[in-house]
Amino acid sequence: MSNKVTKRTFDAVIVGAGGAGLRAALQLSEAGLKTAVLSKVFPTRSHTVAAQGGVAASLGNTTEDNWHWHMYDTVKGSDWLGDQDSIEFMVRKANEVVVELEHYGMPFDRTDNGKIYQRPFGGHSQNYGKSPVMRSCAAADRTGHAMLHALYQRNVRAHTQFFVEWMALDLLRDASGNVLGVTALELETGEVSIFHAKATIFATGGSGRIYYSSTNAFINTGDGVGMAARAGIPLEDMEFWQFHPTGVAGAGVLITEGVRGEGGILRNGGGERFMERYAPNLKDLASRDVVSRSMVTEINEGRGCGPDKDHVMLDITHLSPEVIMKRLPGIREISIRFAGVDPIKAPIPVVPTCHYQMGGIPTNYKGQVVVPKFGNADTPVPGFYAAGECACASVHGANRLGTNSLLDLLVFGKAAGESVVDDFRAGNLELKPLPEDVADRTLARLDRLETQRDGSSVNDVRLAMQRTMQKHAGVFRFKDLLKEGVEKILKVAGDARYTQIGDKSKVWNTARQEALELDNLIEVAKATMVSAEARKESRGAHVRDDAVDTPEHPNGRDDTNWLKHTLWFSADNHLEYKPVRLKPMSSDVEPIALAKRTY
Ligand code: FUM
Repeated sequence: MSNKVTKRTFDAVIVGAGGAGLRAALQLSEAGLKTAVLSKVFPTRSHTVAAQGGVAASLGNTTEDNWHWHMYDTVKGSDWLGDQDSIEFMVRKANEVVVELEHYGMPFDRTDNGKIYQRPFGGHSQNYGKSPVMRSCAAADRTGHAMLHALYQRNVRAHTQFFVEWMALDLLRDASGNVLGVTALELETGEVSIFHAKATIFATGGSGRIYYSSTNAFINTGDGVGMAARAGIPLEDMEFWQFHPTGVAGAGVLITEGVRGEGGILRNGGGERFMERYAPNLKDLASRDVVSRSMVTEINEGRGCGPDKDHVMLDITHLSPEVIMKRLPGIREISIRFAGVDPIKAPIPVVPTCHYQMGGIPTNYKGQVVVPKFGNADTPVPGFYAAGECACASVHGANRLGTNSLLDLLVFGKAAGESVVDDFRAGNLELKPLPEDVADRTLARLDRLETQRDGSSVNDVRLAMQRTMQKHAGVFRFKDLLKEGVEKILKVAGDARYTQIGDKSKVWNTARQEALELDNLIEVAKATMVSAEARKESRGAHVRDDAVDTPEHPNGRDDTNWLKHTLWFSADNHLEYKPVRLKPMSSDVEPIALAKRTY
């Protein structure tokens, strides 16, 4: 092993300090495991901080609710691609993890009688789709921010060891496929270290920076997903990307769906509340894929707003200033800063913007990473776990419901932590020896950046990737554009292998970081484009021009041929498929039967 690399040893290493990483870390540290958490940024600056509207749980504090309705909404929202065992697990755990968080000190808003405040969100309903329900537990419009602080403080109390401004570079595996930890780079000093551990948990969040217009932070570069793909783990359902209906036009910054939950209305250029035509029942609170497509249709058919008719308006001028200041203070600030509009007085210009990846590293509901092996589609990889947006449990299927993301990271962060503790106590986890050449791949990547003198700049290649993704794999998808998109993205991936970062004496380490992040983004972009081109139906957020609504295929969905999960393999870009688990976890729970999705 190279003497350029130091070695640190832990019971468990967690990559990522957002909600999922912190929730998993808490489980481990409180059980007495020596736990390292690596993060590119200070934990409370992780992207979870940007989650605004709430976390879903059927507490029923204001309107009647139960987990059966939440399960139905989530399966329907997923366009039946979600695994019903994982979904049942998640919705049944929801109340427990939210109340737990309250006990950690999370400052939820309150109802008049002191209970956790809940607001309506898109696709969440009472009585199996009949009417909106108040299910999203909120701390004003800063729920993720409050959550991160509560979880971080609890981890400090539990003596979790944080490595802040460290970027994990490669997942380490031995010849038998066991996971041994990661290599990582300290961003300030350039020190490379091996984090050798009995268990490795990836909680690296999303990869929304593959798109040109995104609500995602600049740190969301798909690091865990890219590392897993390079280490031979297939990626699941990467064709499914959520476009949030309300990004600020021109800036992409998120305006929470909670605005519509509080009564906000989308209007076209003629001032019409157009969602009444597309979703007569839930209207502006239909699920996100439906609302985003309706907005793009309005714009494409010439009914947009502004001189270029390229956005629509989100109107809350009918709400009282008191409600806006109390429930949506952050939104008012964002709107004033990024759109130059005070929403108390005038509507906010909005467009659909890339927001969330439904796919990721395949896991079961225990947070164990699973791969096809020996004829079993879901064989756990020893020592490897994942949770949160980088993972695919799969509870969101082809389209996620708002506020199920914070729920996902709490439930599966905790589950992954519990699985590690259980495996540890059962003696199933041991510190496996590190092969002599274990850090070679990482060192080769770093050496190349030191020596490469020609080739494109990282910025140019990243921009080419983002523009390709935006044009060829957007809200609506087109057969010919998808085909062309695959060729283009493979060409961009070729260029990415020869990027250079310029004169090393003049660059800050962030240039090196961006080059390393690009390696991860490229894996995600390839997985997305190849998987999307191959899926010849419309389902959830993946809607193609050559798979339209017919009596045989409602909404263009083809359950006979495509009710299955995609698995993309990086090594040779090939695809395999595995069945959707249509059976819930409990034998006494009825599966949610396939049906046409309408709101
Ligand atoms: O609209 C929002 O507040 C976003 C929530 C989510 O993505 O779950």
